[in-house]
Amino acid sequence: MNMIPFLDLKVQYAGIKEEVDAAVQGILNTCQFTLGREVAAFEGEFAAYCNAKHGIGVNSGTSALHLALLAAGIGPGDEVITVPFTFVATVAAIQYTGARPVFVDIDPRTFNMDPTLIESAVTDRTKAIMPVHLHGQPAEMDPILEVAQRHRLVVVEDAAQAHGAEYRGQRVGSLGEMGCFSFYPGKNLGAYGEGGMVVTDNPEYARKIRMLRDWGMERKYHHVLKGYNYRMEGIQGAVLRVKLRHLEGWTEARRTAAARYDRLLAGSGVPTPHALPHNRHVYHVYAIRTTTRQAWQEALQEQGIQTGIHYPFPVHLLPAYADLGYQAADFPHAERAAEEVLSLPMFAELTEEQCQVVSEAVSALAAEDVAAAS
Ligand SMILES: Cc1ncc(COP(=O)(O)O)c(C=O)c1O
Repeated sequence: MNMIPFLDLKVQYAGIKEEVDAAVQGILNTCQFTLGREVAAFEGEFAAYCNAKHGIGVNSGTSALHLALLAAGIGPGDEVITVPFTFVATVAAIQYTGARPVFVDIDPRTFNMDPTLIESAVTDRTKAIMPVHLHGQPAEMDPILEVAQRHRLVVVEDAAQAHGAEYRGQRVGSLGEMGCFSFYPGKNLGAYGEGGMVVTDNPEYARKIRMLRDWGMERKYHHVLKGYNYRMEGIQGAVLRVKLRHLEGWTEARRTAAARYDRLLAGSGVPTPHALPHNRHVYHVYAIRTTTRQAWQEALQEQGIQTGIHYPFPVHLLPAYADLGYQAADFPHAERAAEEVLSLPMFAELTEEQCQVVSEAVSALAAEDVAAAS
């Protein structure tokens, strides 16, 4: 049986092996293992890619979120509005600062923050809004920025899943005051280890984040802020520079694969991702919906098709976040999405034939469900 993996990093490496090997060898030669020239060059190149003035490389997307919030002066007693249907890191980073995460529900069509719910979540403690561009689709930024402006709130984008995504022609990361990216290996732009970046146009935020990632130092041993060891590694900077040159090609390949799925699943009755017409969705995840998810996942696995779930629990119902005091039914759209989403194989090298095999298997399962119900 031919397996169709959920993600295939080995096939990607095979396509860029010479370039990557040379980049890694370069770091071994210079021994610039942490920060250094390659990281600095990547910061400039990735910031430019996001249409932002500054980029600060860090050791994970979580660190990027944490430092962006600290740079905005967020801390104990403050509230940050975000969504419960996200990876746990969004919420964890808010709590690292001592601030309280306050959730609003999602738009069930896009899985992103419903901007009409923000206003009623704002209190005199609210300092920031953190929209998440989930699965690679930009959140509905204009109304989010409008509420933020009215209440003088900072907008920090969680763009961990959305490298190169665009909202009304503008790259994510450059829409709010700061944009935070993850270069976790499985991301659309993935390091060979951990990595992250904050991009911003604001020189003061950039200066502060640059210090905070490296023990709060202004210059060697002059610690002017209480900082962290959040530095990006030299090897990651070097590898990410190579991979950034391929990113647009890979993104277009993902969009082609998504369009194939859309076409092949049309008429099957299976809800496919709803990309808003003014968005460039970069399909980090291609999530369909089904009310019989476990059965589908097992049946697909038996046919050699790997799937994923992003994410099976909304953060407000996770045991670790019970202290926030939320309950079941507080965010019905997020809760339902968490029960129903199923991520199909998605990576740049996914072939037309593989899309066909997956779509046929999914359509057959949908037809079986219809037959069983009648
Ligand atoms: C939405 C979202 N936010 C934050 C993160 C955290 O990034 P990292 O794993 O690089 O810390 C991730 C990825 O894991 C993510 O998907």
